[in-house]
Amino acid sequence: MAFPINLIITLLFSSLFQISFAAFTPTDNYLLNCGANTNASFFSTRSFLGDSSRQGSAFLSTDRSISLSDPNPPPDSPALYHTARIFPGGSSPPPAYKFTVTSNGTHFIRLHFAPFKAPGFDLTSAKFRVLLNGFSVMNCLATINSVVVKEFLLKIDVPLLEISISPSKPSGFAFVSAIEVFSAPNDYIIDKGTKLVTPNSAQIFSNLSSQILETVHRINVGGLKLTPFNDTLWRTWLVDDNYLLLKAAAKRAWTTNPPNYQTGGATREIAPDNVYMTAQEMDRDDQELQARFNISWGFPVGSRRVLHLVRLHFCDIVSSSLNQLYFNVFINDYLAARDVDLSTLNFHVLASPLYIDFVAESDHDGMLRVSVGPSDLSNPARANALLNGVEIMRVLNPVRSKVGSGKKSFLWIILGSVLGSLALLVLCGLCFCRRKSKKTKRSESIGWTPLRRFRGSSNSRTTEGTVSSSGYQTLRISFAEIQSGTNNFDRSLVIGVGGFGMVFKGSLKDNTKVAVKRGMPGSRQGLPEFLSEITILSKIRHRHLVSLVGYCEEQSEMILVYEYMDKGPLKSHLYGSTTNAPLSWKQRLEVCIGAARGLHYLHTGSSQGIIHRDIKSTNILLDDNYVAKVADFGLSRSGPCLDETHVSTGVKGSFGYLDPEYFRRQQLTDKSDVYSFGVVLFEVLCARPAVDPLLVREQVNLAEWAIEWQRKGMLDQIVDPNIADQIKPCSLKKFAETAEKCCADYGVDRPTIGDVLWNLEHVLQLQVSGPLDKPEEVSGDLTGSGTARSGSNTVRDNGDGTSGIISSTQVFSQLMTNNGR
Ligand SMILES: *[C@@H]1O[C@H](CO)[C@@H](O)[C@H](O)[C@H]1NC(C)=O
Ligand SMILES: *[C@@H]1O[C@H](CO)[C@@H](O)[C@H](O)[C@H]1NC(C)=O
Ligand SMILES: *[C@@H]1O[C@H](CO)[C@@H](O)[C@H](O)[C@H]1NC(C)=O
Ligand SMILES: *[C@@H]1O[C@H](CO)[C@@H](O)[C@H](O)[C@H]1NC(C)=O
Ligand SMILES: *[C@@H]1O[C@H](CO)[C@@H](O)[C@H](O)[C@H]1NC(C)=O
Repeated sequence: MAFPINLIITLLFSSLFQISFAAFTPTDNYLLNCGANTNASFFSTRSFLGDSSRQGSAFLSTDRSISLSDPNPPPDSPALYHTARIFPGGSSPPPAYKFTVTSNGTHFIRLHFAPFKAPGFDLTSAKFRVLLNGFSVMNCLATINSVVVKEFLLKIDVPLLEISISPSKPSGFAFVSAIEVFSAPNDYIIDKGTKLVTPNSAQIFSNLSSQILETVHRINVGGLKLTPFNDTLWRTWLVDDNYLLLKAAAKRAWTTNPPNYQTGGATREIAPDNVYMTAQEMDRDDQELQARFNISWGFPVGSRRVLHLVRLHFCDIVSSSLNQLYFNVFINDYLAARDVDLSTLNFHVLASPLYIDFVAESDHDGMLRVSVGPSDLSNPARANALLNGVEIMRVLNPVRSKVGSGKKSFLWIILGSVLGSLALLVLCGLCFCRRKSKKTKRSESIGWTPLRRFRGSSNSRTTEGTVSSSGYQTLRISFAEIQSGTNNFDRSLVIGVGGFGMVFKGSLKDNTKVAVKRGMPGSRQGLPEFLSEITILSKIRHRHLVSLVGYCEEQSEMILVYEYMDKGPLKSHLYGSTTNAPLSWKQRLEVCIGAARGLHYLHTGSSQGIIHRDIKSTNILLDDNYVAKVADFGLSRSGPCLDETHVSTGVKGSFGYLDPEYFRRQQLTDKSDVYSFGVVLFEVLCARPAVDPLLVREQVNLAEWAIEWQRKGMLDQIVDPNIADQIKPCSLKKFAETAEKCCADYGVDRPTIGDVLWNLEHVLQLQVSGPLDKPEEVSGDLTGSGTARSGSNTVRDNGDGTSGIISSTQVFSQLMTNNGR
């Protein structure tokens, strides 16, 4: 049953006026309009004091700052954002602001950054750090393109709050547009009973109120956006639509009755009425879904394996009587709360608001997933689950004795992000290599490693898809050999951390360098993935797929050993690495072509076809010759069977690369990989992550953002500056069209990976021999597979400095014949 959205809005809207706000009055309450000598109101409720006024300048603790006004303020921007205070560099800048704190306890600190351009200062280019009472809470190195509001929660037990805002480089400058400092209600963050959600055990996270928290998401589930005007603590709550992993699983629920607040439950300060008056519940009317399923939300948090406070808000607005609703809560697939019964938790009053705090670590992709689903206690006919609101706050200074030390995980994050899932990889019976190595002299066996064996240009015809004449036979490697080759799993050899476990750099007895992927003991999902990976890896091998050397399953260990890829993930050659120079445009095209070939082989090369499911720039690795190989088949599943057009499985994959159609319909096709590959193409072009939650909303998702610029015909504006002057316009045009087609909303509109490959070859041809300036009209547009392509010619760089021209039909027949084994 779909209710008209305007009816929903009308109901919500009319209910707003029935609510009487008993306004909260904070003990400490400082609101500054920085760089201004006049007061400014914001969302009509509060007045911000100009910090250049006599009264306001009392809070400034440095005299080395500048007031700046926007010479051309946009007509719709609030007056608060028309001025800013600039802090220039220097050797040891003093704190910027000081506030006297009269009430002990948790305080809200909100910093507003509204960039503008004024003579002498382009605020978008400011790079700076912020410290609160000496704790570093923010290090802004990215360009600030639109208003950013950062909110921190800090327990203060000294009578003073010092905010230091200083440039990252002595030559630079820092700025701030507005500051809010006010005391939180008593018990806003409580220490008792917060559950630490971990894979295997229930632990209590104590001392939450001593942590410095940074708000990452604040979501009004099932409702409308709420502004500071609608909220007792002047918070902003966003809608949940963009985070719902499967929209069809959820439907909106709402009530027009104000919530029944109960002593001991939530208060209006914990979340405003509007949050508790709307929710998402299970959409059991959807015929496609079975009666038992979860509603899941995925929240990108921008940092991996970092603790977050996850505050979930509930209010049973869907039941007609008590004890009808029992549900389970999962965070990152781990059980967080079982058989939640809001009626008993809430003193047997229906529709009374409640919140539950959890602490959980973000996953290796920087995501937190929240799911609610029916519990076994539910009456099957009425099974339901609901959620009204979510807040996610990063724990900035984890003081913890459990779950490993903070320092260690920090190291892993660094390793993980620099090298990514470097080692992971895939395929083929290197076993063969190892077997041979035992029989032959060492020099020969080294000569047989896949790196040497397949050395040559990415276009070399003879080695493509070569299959061992002995067929596949994966080799077991003894645990003892792996142990000694990794110095007993020396932490200093860790080159990556993935969903499956840790990856170590190591060597075998014959000195072959390998990447050793060790399954986490007791990992719940590990075994099926392990078996899936071995099965798949052993079926296929290809020059552009990473090779499996062997495996070990002794002593309840699950270990996969792969060929070692010297240059690591593609991503680290695009951005975010201080050691790698960015690849040239031509190198990038060659890498994309290589990866497309690997993927094409997966889709068409084995009898059934294999869908990778997790194509991303950290799963494309480069060998010492910068030859691209597709890695990590841990999530792979075999492709469609003859009588099916899709494979239905639980949604997996990486945020930002995931096919939106896969979300919607939970149907997986090889076109899902094509979508992800399109995102990689944009990443290669723009050199930024697929999802960057720190950017403003329109820019967070790379594919959406790039396609918007592409449609405006201005994609050249966002090309990686490192390659902008190398790209010929005709090659950019064709490349962008290809990437855009890959990211089409519907799978049927996307090209096959074979078409993508052919188009990328064409892009390379245009780059090598196309005209220098005006975009050429190119023939052979992306269409469904099977379109005639004869006539187009492709120039190929043979890698030895020579070029040749072959027809695209030849390219294809070459691919086809190489698919066989
Ligand atoms: C600005 O606001 C402060 C308090 O926030 C008030 O004391 C002062 O009178 C106001 N100044 C003007 C010019 O309105
Ligand atoms: C605030 O806390 C400090 C130390 O915990 C204490 O010395 C001080 O008296 C407290 N102040 C108030 C106003 O409660
Ligand atoms: C809580 O954290 C504070 C500050 O980090 C520390 O001083 C205190 O001892 C901790 N208390 C407990 C019970 O761990
Ligand atoms: C929230 O406040 C805005 C004004 O900023 C108002 O227009 C809107 O109706 C309010 N929304 C709700 C759901 O109360
Ligand atoms: C809900 O999700 C959890 C965690 O992923 C899973 O274990 C559970 O089986 C799911 N429940 C249903 C009913 O699908």
